[in-house]
Amino acid sequence: MRLTCAVLIVSGCLSTPVLAQSPVPVDTIATVANIEALITQNVSRLEKSLADASKFDDLKEKGIRESFGMLSVLGQALAEHSDRTESKINGPALRDAALAYNNDGTHEEAVAAFKQVQDVLAGKVTGDHVKFHSWGKLIGMAPMMEELNASNSEILRVLRRPRGKDEEVLPAVKWGLLSLTMKVDTHAVQKPEDLSKWNGWSDEFREASLKLAEAIRNKDGTEGRKWFDKGNAACEACHEVFQ
Ligand code: HEC
Repeated sequence: MRLTCAVLIVSGCLSTPVLAQSPVPVDTIATVANIEALITQNVSRLEKSLADASKFDDLKEKGIRESFGMLSVLGQALAEHSDRTESKINGPALRDAALAYNNDGTHEEAVAAFKQVQDVLAGKVTGDHVKFHSWGKLIGMAPMMEELNASNSEILRVLRRPRGKDEEVLPAVKWGLLSLTMKVDTHAVQKPEDLSKWNGWSDEFREASLKLAEAIRNKDGTEGRKWFDKGNAACEACHEVFQ
């Protein structure tokens, strides 16, 4: 495998993610309840953003593509979760419905894909949906980064005074799930020798997101701030080389 990759690097092996399980088990990052809560958030954001067709052009890169991207990540997370039977939602079908929207689509196409998402959530699943899908092909790099960025202010708000409510952990869980897509989507790496840097920063970022989530669950704002800052140090270090 390694040899094949070495030979194929020039022809783009580096940017072809392997169709496989998440780089670390999703169970270590999110509970099924966390995933369902994030699905609800994204569905309600889409409902609002798609309601007025005249706003579509303004919102398609400010929430619409982000929500579809997040829903495909959340569908895949559910598909691979050991406790997936706790949920009535069919993860692979949710992922495929969300992937039906292409980031440059029209309002009609977005509405049609959203209808598919709602059908899946209502238990109306048709067709075959394979369990695995490459984590590098669930959300685009730009929407992934916008979501990470949007989580920053949510996390800071929670850290000011964590109360132990279930929803407080969600932006940190979002960081964690997106650290998986980040790890696998290495298309921004141009030189093979830079791949280890990318892997290192995405691993550091995931570690920080896990510790951050743990601190929030423990209502420890000081410890949480420490890991939030470590996470942001990984963002900055990576941007210096790759952005
Ligand atoms: C492992 C590397 C890596 C890490 C870690 C990383 N980024 Fe990025 N980021 C990138 C790359 C590469 C781009 C350029 C993406 C593009 O142009 O498509 C980017 C672009 C961005 C953008 C601009 C997105 C746009 O609309 O074009 C924002 C905002 C951003 N990152 C925020 C963050 C935040 C916040 C974090 C941490 C919480 C983070 N990034 C962590 C690699 C990284």
